[in-house]
Amino acid sequence: MHTLDKLRHTIPALRISTEQSDLAHYGRDWTRRWTPAPLAIVFPADTAEVQALVQWARATGTPLVPSGGRTGLSGGAVAANGEVVVSLERMNRILAFDPVDRTLTVQAGATLQSVQDAAGKQGLSYPVDFASRGSCTIGGTIATNAGGIRVIRHGNTREWIAGLTLVAGTGEVMRLNRGLIKNSSGYDLRHLVIGSEGTLGIVTEAIVRLGAPLPASKVVLLALPSFDAVMAAFVEVRGALGLQAFEFFSGDALRHVVAHGAQDPFAEMHPAYALVEVDSIDDAEETEMLAVLERCLERGVASDIVVAGSDAQVAALWRLRESITESIAARTPYKNDIAVRVSALPAFLAEAEALLAAGYPTFEVIWFGHIGDGNLHISILRPEDLAPDAFVAHCEHATDMLADVLARHDGSISAEHGIGLVKKPWLARMRGEAEMVRLRGIRETFDPDGILNPGKVFD
Ligand code: MLT
Ligand code: ZN
Repeated sequence: MHTLDKLRHTIPALRISTEQSDLAHYGRDWTRRWTPAPLAIVFPADTAEVQALVQWARATGTPLVPSGGRTGLSGGAVAANGEVVVSLERMNRILAFDPVDRTLTVQAGATLQSVQDAAGKQGLSYPVDFASRGSCTIGGTIATNAGGIRVIRHGNTREWIAGLTLVAGTGEVMRLNRGLIKNSSGYDLRHLVIGSEGTLGIVTEAIVRLGAPLPASKVVLLALPSFDAVMAAFVEVRGALGLQAFEFFSGDALRHVVAHGAQDPFAEMHPAYALVEVDSIDDAEETEMLAVLERCLERGVASDIVVAGSDAQVAALWRLRESITESIAARTPYKNDIAVRVSALPAFLAEAEALLAAGYPTFEVIWFGHIGDGNLHISILRPEDLAPDAFVAHCEHATDMLADVLARHDGSISAEHGIGLVKKPWLARMRGEAEMVRLRGIRETFDPDGILNPGKVFD
């Protein structure tokens, strides 16, 4: 019997598609580097169907690729080798709110936006946030331990996950941590699963913690003469104000965003910008904020400053930062998403910039990132006259050199996008042999037949 006929026979109610448009759509993520070639897309309706699917995959040796919103940037959700893509799209419900625990129980296919909205309806917040909130799923954010624009205040996804329902690669269903705040009963498998990029199991449900509503804030855009000035502004602002976000982007990044239709709020271009959101609950905090900004201008740390005076201006300033990815997408950027300690950022950036300028003087590099978390995004744009394969080969060579700089600074090759297919060649260099042996051992314990997301994270 053909593999898919066997699947239909084993799970008669499972929705299966082999439509060409679905294969193309669900077989790729935002990297756009691989040609999608899955065998089929399946749309389970509940945990029981996911379990039956994993058991069937084990029995037949069929590789599965778990799939959320496919907004990932590391190839973690790509299916290019005859895999069955498991879309969690139908499992998108908010199942329960508990006002005492202050948690939501949600299905893994719920979008980040729908979780944020459900929290908001209860007068609370789910503070993990980033630009793809409307399309990415909570399951995908768990798979990558997603970070984003509010990590500086609220931490990564890991901080907000109180429980997980997992269908492990063994086909067993596990309910990890079950919503507990305190749990000192041995290894916390929940935290192994968070950030495992679908290689240990398929998360079908999560219990997410909710926080107090985000405090009232002011949004400010600082124009700065250099990256050192960005760091000086960060230290100044963090010392005096309650920071909700501190995001950096280069003048080149703003140029692309403006070419894409946004409005530059300044009269002239500047080398660097910081988009800053600070607590501004009362007059005293607002007065303090204005004093800090004044100091930044007086000391030459900032060259110019815009304070958003309305919700529309807040949205417009945030759009400058959040539409960078979209504004450079047509240039099929090769992305690096590195992390170093915040204190190491200036040295890392100077070395990385010099290295790229010397090795690849014709490549345009767009710098932006979550500076307060030590997370820089380095997007190299493909010159129009360079074929995609040759471009990637050059960028991988450049990443080899960047990895040396990173290693010297005790950094990480991925801060928040994950390893997937894109960053696999550098994982061992970052983690070392002893850790790699343990990582492989953990993988084997959860997924002895290697049927879940094969080829992702490591071979
Ligand atoms: C961002 O911070 O905007 C995202 O990580 C996306 C990107 O790096 O392109
Ligand atoms: Zn980011």
